[in-house]
Amino acid sequence: MAIDFRNELNPQQQAGVFATEGAVLVLAGAGSGKTRMLTYKIAYLIEEGGIAPHSILAVTFTNKAANEMRERIKFLLNSSISVKWLGTFHSICGKILRIDGDKIGIPSDYLIYDAEDSRSLVREIIIDLGHDIKTIAPKKVANAISRLKRKLISPDEFSNAAKNTAEKLVSDIYRRYDELLRRAKAVDFDDMISLVVKLLGTNEAVMKKYSEKFQYILVDEFQDTNESQFAFLRHLTAVHKNITVVGDDDQSIYSWRGAQVKNILEFPKIFPDCKIIKLEKNYRSTGHI
Ligand SMILES: Nc1ncnc2c1ncn2[C@@H]1O[C@H](COP(=O)(O)OP(=O)(O)O)[C@@H](O)[C@H]1O
Ligand SMILES: [Mg+2]
Repeated sequence: MAIDFRNELNPQQQAGVFATEGAVLVLAGAGSGKTRMLTYKIAYLIEEGGIAPHSILAVTFTNKAANEMRERIKFLLNSSISVKWLGTFHSICGKILRIDGDKIGIPSDYLIYDAEDSRSLVREIIIDLGHDIKTIAPKKVANAISRLKRKLISPDEFSNAAKNTAEKLVSDIYRRYDELLRRAKAVDFDDMISLVVKLLGTNEAVMKKYSEKFQYILVDEFQDTNESQFAFLRHLTAVHKNITVVGDDDQSIYSWRGAQVKNILEFPKIFPDCKIIKLEKNYRSTGHI
């Protein structure tokens, strides 16, 4: 049985769903049906558009959200169809890295260092370099490295731009840290994104393969994406340019998230023909939670 889009979505949500081609930016507060719109859009692409599920890339912020979306799509389509490339940035980039990471020296059986692994590696390096971890806090340095990776700044670039001895030291630790990670056949969480950005940016064949493959790209919680994640998405739109992102434009959230609003402001600049849709109705303030 076909999905009754006109009864199950409000007019703005329908506009978001039916705008399949090109770039679409959907803005609304929490509880306005952004995730629902995105879920129905995937179902619409498959059911009405005849798009192969494996040609769709859908990014959610948590694994739980990905599972819920996957189940919901199955339910809507009344089928066991699975959208293979539906997941978090980490799960999707991790998968690409397993398949094609060898082109940039990452073996397919690479290990993943979590935040604690990263911190203890940084701690060892600080001690090895003859510093005191009471004055050079491993956690702070690990956070600084993480921030640099999310901004796609390499140890060399940071070293060249270092303004003082503290920054110079961070760049030394950062370089050593990456060397030791690679030697351990490991990547950290930030690498999973930034290495794929590097892979897509330097290997034309791989870039072509994925940007041709993903005909439609959909992103939930776009306001929470960082620079490396947006760079990843931009690479993948090189061929088809069909990208729908939904984001929370709650101003009070912006004020403390600071930098994160950047990608929402940037989106219409990167995709000048993008449609901007605002969802007006809120389903949480009126109904039960
Ligand atoms: N058009 C609609 N009709 C009925 N319920 C809706 C509609 N749009 C959203 N909802 C419901 O409202 C709640 C919030 O929707 P959700 O998509 O999670 O919002 P958001 O992602 O913007 O926070 C969910 O329970 C969802 O099913
Ligand atoms: Mg949501």
